[in-house]
Amino acid sequence: MRYRNFARTGWEVSEIGYGMWGMGAWSGSEDAESLGSLQRAIDLGCNFFDTAWVYGNGHSEKLLGQVLRANSGKKLFVATKVPPKNQAWPAPTNSTLDENYPPQHITEYVEKSLRNLGLESLHLIQLHTWNDSWLEDSRIAAIEQLKTTGKVCAVGISLNRWQPWNGVKAVRSGLVDSVQVVYNIFDQNPEDELFPACREKNVAVIARVPFDEGSLTGTLTASSKWADGDWRNSYFSGGKLQETLKRVDALKLLLREVTQDKMAGDGPSEGMTLPELALRFILSNPDVSTTIPGMRKTRNVEANLLVSGRGTFSEYAPAYLPADLLVELRKHRWERKLTPEHLPVK
Ligand SMILES: NC(=O)c1ccc[n+]([C@@H]2O[C@H](COP(=O)([O-])OP(=O)(O)OC[C@H]3O[C@@H](n4cnc5c(N)ncnc54)[C@H](OP(=O)(O)O)[C@@H]3O)[C@@H](O)[C@H]2O)c1
Repeated sequence: MRYRNFARTGWEVSEIGYGMWGMGAWSGSEDAESLGSLQRAIDLGCNFFDTAWVYGNGHSEKLLGQVLRANSGKKLFVATKVPPKNQAWPAPTNSTLDENYPPQHITEYVEKSLRNLGLESLHLIQLHTWNDSWLEDSRIAAIEQLKTTGKVCAVGISLNRWQPWNGVKAVRSGLVDSVQVVYNIFDQNPEDELFPACREKNVAVIARVPFDEGSLTGTLTASSKWADGDWRNSYFSGGKLQETLKRVDALKLLLREVTQDKMAGDGPSEGMTLPELALRFILSNPDVSTTIPGMRKTRNVEANLLVSGRGTFSEYAPAYLPADLLVELRKHRWERKLTPEHLPVK
C-alpha cells in the first residue's frame, strides 16, 4: 500500500481507503462478511475509513467501532459525517444553513457518532451535504470551533453529487481541511476548478464513488435490479442503466485493446481489470489524497487494495497509468446532472 499526505493535517493515509456506505445501508449486506472485509483491508495496509451516521443510522459506524477495538494498536483514521437536519440529499439550492446544519445539530451528531464508534475523538467530521452560499452565515464557524473541543481533529465537507463547483468557495475560504467529491473515469469535472483550489489551499481530496456505484466494475448487465428499497434502483432508473452500460462497453473495448495489443507483455497493463483501471485513473491524479471504494466482499477488498501494491513498474510510476492511456480516458468524461428520477442520491 502506498500512503499520501492528507494535506494540511499531515496525516499519512492509504491512497486506497474504505467506503462504508454499502455495509450500513445497501441490500445484501452481511455484517460478518463486512467485518471480515474490514479486517482484511487493515491487514493489507488500509488506514482510512469513511463512514457516516446515516449509513444505517449508526450501523456502519458501529461496525467500524468493533474493528477499531480489535486493532487498538494501529493508527487508523476515522472519517464520518453529520447528516443534514432536514434529511435532504443533495442540499436544496435555496435552503439555509439553519435548515441543514444548525450548530446544536452538528454537536449532537458528533456526540452520536463518537458513541457509535466508541471513540473520544474523531479524526475527520464532514458535513454530509454542502452549499457554498452557507459561507455567508457566520454560524458556519461552528464547524471550525469543533476542533477546539478536542472531539474532532479536522473538518471537511462532502459535496453534492455532480456539483464539484459548489465547494470551491468553501475551499478558498480556508474553512475546511478536506473535501469529498465524486471523481472517477466518468466524472472528471472536479479537475476543472475544485482540484486547483485544493492544491492552492492545501486541502485534502477524498475521491468517492470510484466505480460509479458499481458500473465501473463491469459487473452490471441490462437486467441488473436490486431489492426493493435499494437506492441503486433509482440511480440506474429511466434508461440510465442502458446509457451507462453503453459507456462501460466502450471502456471495456479500450481496455481490451490496451491489454492485448499496444502495451501487452510484462508491464502493468497485462491482466488489468476494469476496476483496476478505474482506480488507477483516480490515483494517477496527485491532487487525490485517497479514494474510497465501497466494499463488502473480501475478494473486492483484496482486488482493490492490491492495486496500490502493484506499482513498481517504471511504466506506472509515478503516473499509475501510461500517459497515452490517460489521454484516451479523458475522452470518456461524462457530464451529468441530477434528475428527479435520480433523487434522493446521497
Ligand atoms: N454524499 C456522500 O458523502 C457520499 C455519497 C456516496 C458515497 N460516499 C462514500 O463513498 C464510498 C464509495 O462509494 P459507493 O460505495 O457508493 O460506490 P462505489 O465505490 O463506486 O461502488 C461500490 C460497489 O462496487 C462493488 N465493488 C467494489 N470493488 C469491486 C471489485 N473489485 N469488483 C467488482 N465489484 C466491486 C461493491 O461491491 P460489494 O459492496 O458487494 O463488495 C459495491 O457494489 C461510499 O461507501 C461512501 O463511503 C459518500
